[in-house]
Amino acid sequence: MNSPFWSAFVNSIVPYIPGEQPKISNIIKLNTNENAYGVSPNVSNALKQAIGDNLKLYPDPTAGQLRQELGRLHKVNEDCIFIGNGSDEVLGFAFHALLKHNKPVLFPDITYSFYPVYCRLFDISFHCIPLNDSFEINLQDYQNREACGIVITNPNAPTGILLKSNSIANYLDTHPHQLVIVDEAYIDFGGETVIPFVKKYPNLLVVRTFSKFYSLAGLRVGYAVGQPDLIEGIVRVKDSFNSYPLDYMAQIGAVAAVKDIQWSINNARSIIKNRKNLIDALNQLGFQTLDSKANFIFTSHPLHEGKKIANYLRDNKILIRHFDSPRIKNWLRITIGNAEECKRLIEALAQMN
Ligand SMILES: Cc1ncc(COP(=O)(O)O)c(C=O)c1O
Repeated sequence: MNSPFWSAFVNSIVPYIPGEQPKISNIIKLNTNENAYGVSPNVSNALKQAIGDNLKLYPDPTAGQLRQELGRLHKVNEDCIFIGNGSDEVLGFAFHALLKHNKPVLFPDITYSFYPVYCRLFDISFHCIPLNDSFEINLQDYQNREACGIVITNPNAPTGILLKSNSIANYLDTHPHQLVIVDEAYIDFGGETVIPFVKKYPNLLVVRTFSKFYSLAGLRVGYAVGQPDLIEGIVRVKDSFNSYPLDYMAQIGAVAAVKDIQWSINNARSIIKNRKNLIDALNQLGFQTLDSKANFIFTSHPLHEGKKIANYLRDNKILIRHFDSPRIKNWLRITIGNAEECKRLIEALAQMN
């Protein structure tokens, strides 16, 4: 499609393609890393009770109560927290506010594929650093380069591999003039957060989402934690675009989710258990699976093409994610489902010819 009203710039951009959200029921959906276990009943109740006259008012533009709850959770002041409409928006604002300088930003060749999209949208120069042969991020490969900052997903997506927090601390120590953005979308499934480093490092921004650990992808809530001057820079961009990114219901639901964090901790434990069982079962079928600390795994089979497996599973009503990019075209990213979904996946794969 095209239109004479499109600018040359709009013609040139390549938008991010989100994973499919099928309208058909009866499908096992392991393609977009949603949480296999639902939201806390306390969240549902809080949302039901919130429907009422308050909806006629604009929401709190700063999401004050949610920042207070998150401040308590992470042991930081609330002026160290920025809230946005999903972490995608938080990342977009942060790229726009903090990474547009006359040096490039660095990130891995294989990582969350929204990062180059933001760079092109905001005219930010970037340079991709290849993961090593074991698909790991090696921060030594980022050293001694001209850069305004780096962005890493930890654990990385789609590999699931975790980078140790002491190597991030080491990079922060040795690169005080670079901004380090750590996207911790999946950190609660077995990783160690670097949020406690925020007090020490003025060049660290940690980005989090409510879509995975809290099972609230539909509510659209994300946040960033960093020192107040970084946060203020992001707020300046937000307030030049949309002062109310987070609606009233989303603020109520997210506060209730943080207050009932034990629900999410229990679900994360189940996912970690299912992940181990799934990896063991896949390996018995001849798959090679990377060591994941996320709510998904990255796996490949020496005898079957990635795309062929994804199509076969699709025919069997199981959706997983295949990326058509050269280095990972034989790999598949599979969200960890509940125990029954994992069982059905293994049964289907066991019958594949
Ligand atoms: C690494 C990473 N960062 C950020 C996001 C965006 O999450 P949100 O739903 O908060 O926009 C995702 C979504 O899958 C992701 O994989």
